[in-house]
Amino acid sequence: MADNVTNPLRRPLPDGVIPEQEITRTEDRWLTAMLGMLGVMMAIIVVTGSLHALHPPSNVETINPITLHLGGEFAESNLGTAAEPDGSVTVRMIAEQYSFVPTCAQVPVDTPVKFRITSTDAIHGFLLPATNVNTMVVPGYVAEVRTTFSRPGVYDMPCNEFCGYGHHGMWARVKVVPRDQLPDLSPVERTSCAKQ
Ligand code: CUA
Repeated sequence: MADNVTNPLRRPLPDGVIPEQEITRTEDRWLTAMLGMLGVMMAIIVVTGSLHALHPPSNVETINPITLHLGGEFAESNLGTAAEPDGSVTVRMIAEQYSFVPTCAQVPVDTPVKFRITSTDAIHGFLLPATNVNTMVVPGYVAEVRTTFSRPGVYDMPCNEFCGYGHHGMWARVKVVPRDQLPDLSPVERTSCAKQ
């Protein structure tokens, strides 16, 4: 019996009506704990979002998935890595069942990189592990993500959105190379590391 009294979890419930002050006190404690947790979660979102650019891509840009290969930005000759006048690079890719075109993108290290990707068929996913790059590639829309790679290496890029029977075999690579290993590109030239 003495045991029941010392252990608060085993204490019998009070008979009759629980006093109002006790209910208010318990509710206030929960409210404080919830507001505290909410504050911590909001702080994490704001800090990671502003310091590491970890946020959902917000680019909303439409494109006709039926005609995109016929000309314009996503014509085959325009895919791959392009040099921009400000020294940054833009990588344009197409995701389709079941490959990325090109299958290997080459980008320089310590340089702002902008990926622009769209799909011709199903919803695909574009994810580079250990970076802030993670977006869905939805037909009809252009997905745009910006990042900077701080060290050279090869990033495996699995399609991370189930897109059909061949989903598990849908891969591409992003090869981050020292600046001088990237060919000098004229404004109309494109490069990739896909095997011809
Ligand atoms: Cu493409 Cu999964």
